[in-house]
Amino acid sequence: MAQPFQTRGIGKRNLTKAITVHSFKGGTGKSNLSANTAFALAKRGWNIALLDFDFRAPSLNALFQMNGTKYYINDWLAGRCELHEVLIDLSTQFHTKGQFQVGFTNPSGAAINEMTVHSLNEEWQARVLQLVLDGKNLLFERYGINFQIFDTSPGFALSSINAILAADELILVIKMDQLDIVGTQHLIKGVYNQTLGKRPELIINKVPCNMLQTPEDYLKLKNRLSNKLGIEVISIIPCFCEVLENMSSSLFIEKQPDHQFSQSIAKLASHFESAN
Ligand SMILES: Nc1ncnc2c1ncn2[C@@H]1O[C@H](COP(=O)(O)OP(=O)(O)OP(=O)(O)O)[C@@H](O)[C@H]1O
Ligand SMILES: [Mg+2]
Repeated sequence: MAQPFQTRGIGKRNLTKAITVHSFKGGTGKSNLSANTAFALAKRGWNIALLDFDFRAPSLNALFQMNGTKYYINDWLAGRCELHEVLIDLSTQFHTKGQFQVGFTNPSGAAINEMTVHSLNEEWQARVLQLVLDGKNLLFERYGINFQIFDTSPGFALSSINAILAADELILVIKMDQLDIVGTQHLIKGVYNQTLGKRPELIINKVPCNMLQTPEDYLKLKNRLSNKLGIEVISIIPCFCEVLENMSSSLFIEKQPDHQFSQSIAKLASHFESAN
């Protein structure tokens, strides 16, 4: 049974990092990658806060089968509750060594509408950015969280920009699709580099298996996209029918820890543990 947020003296304490997972196009795998990596890190003993910052199409509630909670991230941003009241402790349910805290976003039509209206208001956005930055410090300093992981909306949503601004490590997830590659190129040059002054890293996800038959294929694809987009490729993940068949109804890595997808997630977790 999910528990409300409690401070617990577990987890390793020598590393803090906010990771924001974003993309140009929708459906690249952000929510599944964020949730599975968060779980993998919590299993290894890190204290995790996974935050659903996709206010247009909230997903983590469905992935964790969470049918309602007292407070959502929407309520925190609107000043109706404190950040710690939003977080649900899933550590017991998922048998993780570190804290596994998840902040859900309200999937109701009324809540999505409320956030859409607010998102057009510059004052609201500035206040939200300050809340996110203050919340980041609070989670690290008072609650002993090691990794905050923001799962965001694709494209230019302002709430995603706030999560991008709060990030210590920024991840763009891309599919092998020309529309996505070209759009991502514009996103990196026009928004990340010029406007936000941020340098993301790339995950190439859902790559057709026949493009990845040999280790050389991985290397060639890595170099090709790295050169084209001017950023480092940190992971290449094939498209697996088993992941699609899971229908985002649970944490894939928990159900099939030995699968190649789960091994890719484990490598990503190692990357986040080691990269500065
Ligand atoms: N490596 C993979 N192989 C096969 N299917 C995958 C893989 N990664 C993700 N998927 C599937 O792709 C679909 C989209 O994934 P997900 O919802 O995580 O993407 P998203 O980027 O969060 O989407 P949105 O932009 O709408 O929030 C899901 O059905 C998921 O199971
Ligand atoms: Mg998503």
